[in-house]
Amino acid sequence: MDSSYLTQLFGLEGRVAIVTGASRGLGRSMALALARAGARLCLVGRQANLDETQAELSEQGCDSIAVVCPLDDPDSAEAITQACLERWGQIDILVNNAGTFLRKPAAEWTIDEWDQVLAVNLRFVFSLCLAAGRTMLERGSGKIINIASVLGFQGGLTVPAYSASRHGVLGLTKALANEWAAQGVNVNAIAPGYMDTAQNERLFSDPVRSRELMARIPAKRWGTADEIDGACLFLASQASNYMHGQVVIVDGGWLTR
Ligand SMILES: NC(=O)c1ccc[n+]([C@@H]2O[C@H](COP(=O)([O-])OP(=O)(O)OC[C@H]3O[C@@H](n4cnc5c(N)ncnc54)[C@H](OP(=O)(O)O)[C@@H]3O)[C@@H](O)[C@H]2O)c1
Repeated sequence: MDSSYLTQLFGLEGRVAIVTGASRGLGRSMALALARAGARLCLVGRQANLDETQAELSEQGCDSIAVVCPLDDPDSAEAITQACLERWGQIDILVNNAGTFLRKPAAEWTIDEWDQVLAVNLRFVFSLCLAAGRTMLERGSGKIINIASVLGFQGGLTVPAYSASRHGVLGLTKALANEWAAQGVNVNAIAPGYMDTAQNERLFSDPVRSRELMARIPAKRWGTADEIDGACLFLASQASNYMHGQVVIVDGGWLTR
């Protein structure tokens, strides 16, 4: 195996990566994977529970900072980018991963609830794409990875705001890619299927719904949190330099049914 070729293609030595929602689940796993590939990490969360992820990063010898701020407030986007620029002077990779979820029949939703989901899952994603993206445009390089969902293609059941936000993330990804591709900034998305994380606890513990979902997944199992890492590393690395506005689907085959 030509390891220097693989390092050149997939290595992230010295790159600075922001990962939102890095406290647990997919965000935590992607942060650890980026660090293993050589990146320095800015972990972002809404509450002071990033310590475990940060402790694991320092065990790996990774230089990291943790920024705690509300992720439904666009002002936080500037605070996050400033923290990175002050520490490292650059931002190379942004993973917009944090997301919120509310499940109940559409007819019972209030506009406030709708706004709360959209504020985190779409408005803040746009805010951080702008704040970090502007610094990438100035440097003429950068990788933005927006975490969407298979519900960016489907309506789902009882999750209207979530589905709308994920459709929105895919639209935003394409819109930014169209403008920024020629300036050296890659904007792409990952759409996970049903992964075994806290977000899906309620689904897993409902034996009927859980069986229904499993029956429809060609791989016949949930995804594990780390099964999104490969797509993330690919989109963060030089290997995806000619990819713009695309969505990598990691769903055990769910959308092919
Ligand atoms: N798991 C799946 O099957 C799946 C499928 C498709 C897409 N996704 C998306 O992938 C991303 C990660 O999901 P996950 O499964 O890892 O979920 P998770 O285990 O529930 O973790 C969600 C992360 O987002 C943060 N978060 C949740 N609500 C927030 C809010 N209101 N404001 C700010 N941050 C908030 C959490 O922070 P705290 O620790 O502070 O709660 C946590 O770091 C999400 O955007 C999710 O929608 C997941």
